[in-house]
Amino acid sequence: MKSLAIRNLQKTYFDPYAGTKVTAVQDVTLDVRPGEFISVVGPSGCGKTTILNMVAGFIPHTGGEILVDGRQVSGPGADRGVVFQSFALFPWKTVIDNVGFGPKMRGVRKPERDRIAREFLALAGLSHAADRYPNELSGGMQQRVGVVRALANEPDVLLMDEPFASVDAQTRMTLQEELTRIWQERPHTVLFITHDVSEAVFLADRVVVLSKGRVLADLGIDLPRPRVWDDLLDDSDFKRLSAEVLALVRSA
Ligand SMILES: Nc1ncnc2c1ncn2[C@@H]1O[C@H](COP(=O)(O)OP(=O)(O)O)[C@@H](O)[C@H]1O
Ligand SMILES: [Mg+2]
Repeated sequence: MKSLAIRNLQKTYFDPYAGTKVTAVQDVTLDVRPGEFISVVGPSGCGKTTILNMVAGFIPHTGGEILVDGRQVSGPGADRGVVFQSFALFPWKTVIDNVGFGPKMRGVRKPERDRIAREFLALAGLSHAADRYPNELSGGMQQRVGVVRALANEPDVLLMDEPFASVDAQTRMTLQEELTRIWQERPHTVLFITHDVSEAVFLADRVVVLSKGRVLADLGIDLPRPRVWDDLLDDSDFKRLSAEVLALVRSA
């Protein structure tokens, strides 16, 4: 498990249509400890996806630094696993081959990568779906495969951008519970981005509230684990923390 450090991060886009510069990320400093689960929450347009894309190395930053385990990030790398809102699975590959794709790119041979993939599929309750194609799965199952595919790469840092935003509410709650369970079984350093306040609080050790490209607040979430919705929905600490974060997001 590795640390992630974001120091005075800044991003200015050039808008070719308006002919002007847009500063999406003003100044963000954030330290994620090894094995810590951080949620970043904020209203639409506050710079969440921009931060994630810079940490993933998909777009360059225009100021500050990003360090994984003390090393500067320059471009994408297998040390950072990414899960997006859209499933982004290979439609022509079976589930097991989707999950084994990262190990394949690292030169792991077929029998070994099948073993790795089966282990991670079992962790997510997907063993029965190994030989299916993505279009044969529900949205919730596809997103589970997306999470497991990122984990099978054994990344140092897992980056997730609203991964459950496009599934129905019941499935989303199940996926959130599963993610916390899997994370407890296989701890990872996680940067989880969402606009959903209760999701942010439910999942995280710490919630960072973003406003207009800056950190507005940073709250520790000291709720016991394992976390399940049946326990938390009526929990007074969960309600208090969610109300606190919601008030911050609304003021953002
Ligand atoms: N490629 C781009 N070119 C110009 N402006 C962009 C680009 N991507 C995002 N922006 C602007 O940057 C701001 C932050 O966007 P984004 O990071 O997507 O926010 P969020 O994920 O929090 O909704 C918004 O004002 C958005 O319009
Ligand atoms: Mg976004």
